[in-house]
Amino acid sequence: MEAVVATIPPTVTWLDPPHGLAIRMIDQTLLPGELVMLDLRTIEGLCEAIRSLRVRGAPAIGCAAALGLALVAQQTEAATSEEMLAVLEKARGEVACTRPTAVNLFWALDRVMDIARLAALIGPERIRDRVLHEAQEIVAEDVERCRGIGRMGAPLLPEAGNVLTHCNAGALATGGYGTALGVIRAAVEAGKKIHVWADETRPLLQGARLTAWEMQAEGIPCTVLCDNAAGALMAQGEVDCVVVGADRIAANGDVANKIGTYGLAVLAKAHGVPFYVAAPLSTLDPATPSGAEIVIEQRDWREVSLVAGRLEKSIMPEGVPAYNPAFDVTPAELVTAIITESAVLRAPYGEAIAEQFSLMGKANGGSPAAG
Ligand code: MRU
Repeated sequence: MEAVVATIPPTVTWLDPPHGLAIRMIDQTLLPGELVMLDLRTIEGLCEAIRSLRVRGAPAIGCAAALGLALVAQQTEAATSEEMLAVLEKARGEVACTRPTAVNLFWALDRVMDIARLAALIGPERIRDRVLHEAQEIVAEDVERCRGIGRMGAPLLPEAGNVLTHCNAGALATGGYGTALGVIRAAVEAGKKIHVWADETRPLLQGARLTAWEMQAEGIPCTVLCDNAAGALMAQGEVDCVVVGADRIAANGDVANKIGTYGLAVLAKAHGVPFYVAAPLSTLDPATPSGAEIVIEQRDWREVSLVAGRLEKSIMPEGVPAYNPAFDVTPAELVTAIITESAVLRAPYGEAIAEQFSLMGKANGGSPAAG
């Protein structure tokens, strides 16, 4: 049977009236079986969507969080700047509690709140306008950042070969285009013949469900493997390089990403396979010195026992607990390069990352936070 090639709608967008005020997003928990768009009209609905991974992937979570504050700003009847800021602070607190590891969530919330505080000097209407504008900017910029990552990273991929990726760091995980998959997309657009090995990515199967769906939609050849098959593939010389995304990169270059990334990096090192991390500068966290300080989200054990939390019946004997961290930390020394939208960073990462922030600070009149 001929495969159905889907067009990928925007991962997360703002909806103005008459259909809005709402945040429209793909419900990623239903892919690849069903492509369902959700229109979220409350901050509680948005928080639930982030917690349950209807929207997921570090940059996409940041975009959704920013739009969440815009939604609150549009809906509130706060009459003064002070009241408006208090309402936004409360919403910020609720969204910040949803998932702890991806720094983009906090980066986007802080960026919008900084703008709100500036606009407060003028008045509540100004806050409403500026917050919505900033949130939409964050989404639009994210796509551009991903295209930049693609341009930087594509030359690192072979003219023809096999690239292994883990989880989903594609259009679905970002404002669009993707980070790790952005590098692959850009390489294919440049005429390279790339075949993608997509790790299934237990327990929630982002690789099997989402990366495979995106690659099929793009017409990029892709094969799914069980996570535990990656070592055998590398030993057979079937992997030319690994490209993954990141949820947070510490100041020393340690990388938090989907659970299983660390094991892949160790395997890549053992087999002499380059291990690349593709991420926007908004994923770099200079305030966190090393991976040891990154908070790793622990998720419900039933995601393991019920396979993606979906089966009717547990695959484990009753009474046996399951360990379910959502992320792990890959030490910087296992990373061949970090591909950002502005440069390909190489070790020593502490210096390379500090340099990026110093350049950004100069470009923004001394304030890296101005992004
Ligand atoms: O739990 P998820 O699906 O949000 O985890 C996503 C990942 O680990 C991605 O690799 C990471 O966020 C980078 S997305 C460009």
